[in-house]
Amino acid sequence: MPQIPEKVHELTVGQLSARSGAAVSALHFYETKGLISSRRTSGNQRRYSRDTLRRVAFIRAAQRVGIPLATIREALAELPEERTPTRDDWAHLSEAWRSELDERIKQLNRLRDHLTDCIGCGCLSLDSCVLSNPDDVFGDHLTGSRLLPEKGRR
Ligand code: FES
Repeated sequence: MPQIPEKVHELTVGQLSARSGAAVSALHFYETKGLISSRRTSGNQRRYSRDTLRRVAFIRAAQRVGIPLATIREALAELPEERTPTRDDWAHLSEAWRSELDERIKQLNRLRDHLTDCIGCGCLSLDSCVLSNPDDVFGDHLTGSRLLPEKGRR
């Protein structure tokens, strides 16, 4: 990864991409989702403050452990004055995300274990298939066609 000299306070999207390892398209996506921001030059080119590098590292690290972008955005928005996350911020947030990840890992383990039963089955039944309805989310209060009016009321 190329180094950016300390005296450079703003980065082009290419520099940000090269230094962070994130594709330019991903950076644009993060920007459209409000995770990072830039200013425009008179020539309408994006310039990112240097601390965007740390923000992108934070986003990518969180994504790597399976945190959805919406959750990452909420976490970043809660930081005072939208400052760049510090080491303490990461420690605090990753602790909060841990139980969410533990739950997701449990669900994935359950799905993996049930997948063996589904191989060669293919029923995908809303009532009984462990892949289509792993937690029997409808079974507790509704079944079959009764789901349609329920959807319309939302
Ligand atoms: S595909 Fe039949 S039980 Fe899942």
